[in-house]
Amino acid sequence: MAVLSQQIGDFLTKSSWIRRMFDAGAELKRKHGEEKVCDFSLGNPDLPAPSGVKRGLERIASRAEDPYCFGYMQNPGFPGVRDRLAKHLSGEQGVSVAREDVMLSCGAAGGLNCLLRAVLEPGEEVICPTPHFVEYGFYLSNHGGTLRPVPAKEGDFRLDIEAIERAFTERTRMVLINSPNNPTGQIYSEEELKELGDLLRRMNAESSRPVLLVSDEPYRFLTFDGHEVPSVLRFFENSVVVSSFSKNLSLAGERIGYVLLHPDMPFKSELMDGLVYTNRILGYVNAPTLGQQIIDEALGEEVDTSVYVRRRDKLADILGRAGYEFHPPKGSFYFFPKAPGGDDVEFTRILQDELVLAVPGSGFGGPGHFRLSFCVPDRVIDNSAPGFQRAMDRIGDSDK
Ligand SMILES: Cc1ncc(COP(=O)(O)O)c(C=O)c1O
Repeated sequence: MAVLSQQIGDFLTKSSWIRRMFDAGAELKRKHGEEKVCDFSLGNPDLPAPSGVKRGLERIASRAEDPYCFGYMQNPGFPGVRDRLAKHLSGEQGVSVAREDVMLSCGAAGGLNCLLRAVLEPGEEVICPTPHFVEYGFYLSNHGGTLRPVPAKEGDFRLDIEAIERAFTERTRMVLINSPNNPTGQIYSEEELKELGDLLRRMNAESSRPVLLVSDEPYRFLTFDGHEVPSVLRFFENSVVVSSFSKNLSLAGERIGYVLLHPDMPFKSELMDGLVYTNRILGYVNAPTLGQQIIDEALGEEVDTSVYVRRRDKLADILGRAGYEFHPPKGSFYFFPKAPGGDDVEFTRILQDELVLAVPGSGFGGPGHFRLSFCVPDRVIDNSAPGFQRAMDRIGDSDK
C-alpha cells in the first residue's frame, strides 16, 4: 500500500543526481576516509558569514525579551527591513524600487514557489534555458506548471533567443532565467537581455495573459574577471527578480530571500497581493524573523569572495593541465566542463573510481558535461589534481 502520492513516489525513485552523488560520496568517504575523497558535488557555501551576521544576531539577542521579537509580522516582511532592502536593491539593480515592490521570502526557493503558485494556471508553461538548476522542474510541478526546456547555445551556453521564440505557445506564462548560472557559470549580457526583453514585449502584445520574465539571481555577488550582471529590470517591465542571501552571506540554512517586482509593472500591486497570499497559504507565512533581522544588519556585506576567485583559478589550472575542455565560469561557483569521451554519466563514474565526485550534466539537462562546485576547501582542489589527470588518461587509453 503506497502512502505517497504517485508523483512524489516517482520523483523519489528517480531521485536527483545530486542526491545520488551525495549517497555515493558518503559511501566512498566511509570506505576510504573523508580526507581521500574530493567532493565537488554540492553547492553548499563553506565560507564563514561576514561580521554583519554576527552583529545582527547580537542585536536580536539584546531584544530577545521583547514579547514580539519572534512574533508573526506582516506577511511580506518587517516594513523597515523591506524599506532598507529596497534601497539596497535600487543600488544593486540600477533601478529605483520601493518597499511595496519587494517581499521577503524563505530563500529564493520559497520566493519562486510563491510566484509560481500566484500566477500559473494548471498546464501553463515556463520556458527555461537548459542546462538549468534541477529544482525548477519540481517547483513547477508543485503548481501544475510545465517546464519547456530550451537548450542554450552550443559551446558557451548563451541564450538562444530564436529557440526561445519558437518555444512560445499560447500557454507560455513565464521565461525563467538564472544568471550567473548554475551549472554553467554563464552571465547573460546586456545584448542578450535586451533581445529577450524585446521578444517578450512582442509576445505579451499577442498574449491574452501577461508573460513574465523571471531572473533567479542568488549568485549575483560572485563574478570573475570584471564581469557584471546586467539587471533584467532595465529591459522589460513585466520582470521579476528572485534571489536570496544563501550564497553571499553564507546563510543557506537560514532560508532568507526575496521577490522583487519591476516598479513599473502595470499589475504590480495585484501581483504583490497574490505573492503575500501565496506566501501565507503555502505555509511559509513570512520569511524567518531571525533572517530578516540578520540581513537588516548585514545588507551590503558578503563573504570573502577572493577565496572563490582563488579556488576558481586553481581548479581552472588543474583542469586545463589535465586537458579538459571548459569555459571558465564568469560567475557562480561551478565549472561545467565537457565530459571526455562524451558520456557524462560514465565519465563521472570514472571520476568516482578516482575518488573525485562530480555531478553528470544530464542531471541539469546538459548531457555531455559534468558539474564541479568549488565551495570546497582549497586542499580538496589541490588533492584532486591526480584524480582528474588519471580519469582523463583512462579515457585516452580506452580510445587507443
Ligand atoms: C540557481 C539557484 N536558484 C535557487 C536556489 C535556491 O536557493 P535558496 O537557498 O535561496 O532557496 C539555488 C540553490 O542552490 C540555486 O542554485
